[in-house]
Amino acid sequence: MADLNLQEIHDALVSIAHEAGRMILSANPTDIDQGTKLNSVDIVTETDKAVEDLVSSKLRALYPTFAFMGEETYKPGNKIGPEPTFVVDPIDGTTNFVHGFPEACISLGLAVDRRPAVGVVYNPYQDKLYSAVRGRGAFQTVGQVWGLEGGRGRVSRLPLARNPAPLAGLDASLVAVEWGSSRDDANYELKTAVFKRLAAAKPQGGAMVHSLRSLGSAALNLCAVAAGQVDCYWEGGCWVWDVCAGWAILAEAGGIMASGNPGTWEPAIDERKYLAVRGAPSGQKELVQEFWGVIGEGRMDYSS
Ligand code: IPD
Ligand code: CA
Repeated sequence: MADLNLQEIHDALVSIAHEAGRMILSANPTDIDQGTKLNSVDIVTETDKAVEDLVSSKLRALYPTFAFMGEETYKPGNKIGPEPTFVVDPIDGTTNFVHGFPEACISLGLAVDRRPAVGVVYNPYQDKLYSAVRGRGAFQTVGQVWGLEGGRGRVSRLPLARNPAPLAGLDASLVAVEWGSSRDDANYELKTAVFKRLAAAKPQGGAMVHSLRSLGSAALNLCAVAAGQVDCYWEGGCWVWDVCAGWAILAEAGGIMASGNPGTWEPAIDERKYLAVRGAPSGQKELVQEFWGVIGEGRMDYSS
């Protein structure tokens, strides 16, 4: 890792993200050729594939010795190793993309030693870029492509609050969750039971969170946690390409990533079950413990 120029890699990823963003915006939602993978809500489009083609050919030309893992070319059994690996979701939030709901992004991560080292997440609809290099902080850049601030964009360090408030527990939290694409199994039953317990009033045994949010993109949920706009994000079932870049940004913004199942404080990059908590002067571990308490005895299982 010492001989990798992470900043240079970051800058290359930002430029590729901007180019991919133009491709995403040029697709007319009404003409999107929509296919499905696991079931009718697990959607893939020609644009997902075309963007991944663009990204992988650019990255292979620039960094021919690095490994590459992308959602659209993933084969079951492919594992991410310790070598520098680009981890790419060409469109995260494909469902939003096909509906024209402006919360979709390209998610470009670099993992080294199976840990996120660089993250670039770009929402072209809002010209909003989130990015981080390990050890150098996390940033939000708005309007660079639109030419704001003399073409530099409006740059803010993450989290957005200068002095983030302590975390005061789930009953003071805005919580991001996602429904996922499996709707008929034990994971779905557990998730929906947890959603209900998170929202329910205290006398009913609930945590009475302020509310639940689903941006429809794991990467954008993680960036919202990094920004401090939501307090935590819980999901099971998402893949390494959904989280690698956002995780790099979260960590540089002072956030932590625990497992989405109780008990593991340092989940593997590809563990597929995550609980992200925003940066705060206190209360991070307590929030994780409280959340795990809401999950109770149930466990999500994505081993098959
Ligand atoms: C999905 C989104 C969604 C999350 C799923 C992901 P996709 O990715 O991130 O928010 O709930 O787990 O698979 O299909 O839009 O790339
Ligand atoms: Ca995707």
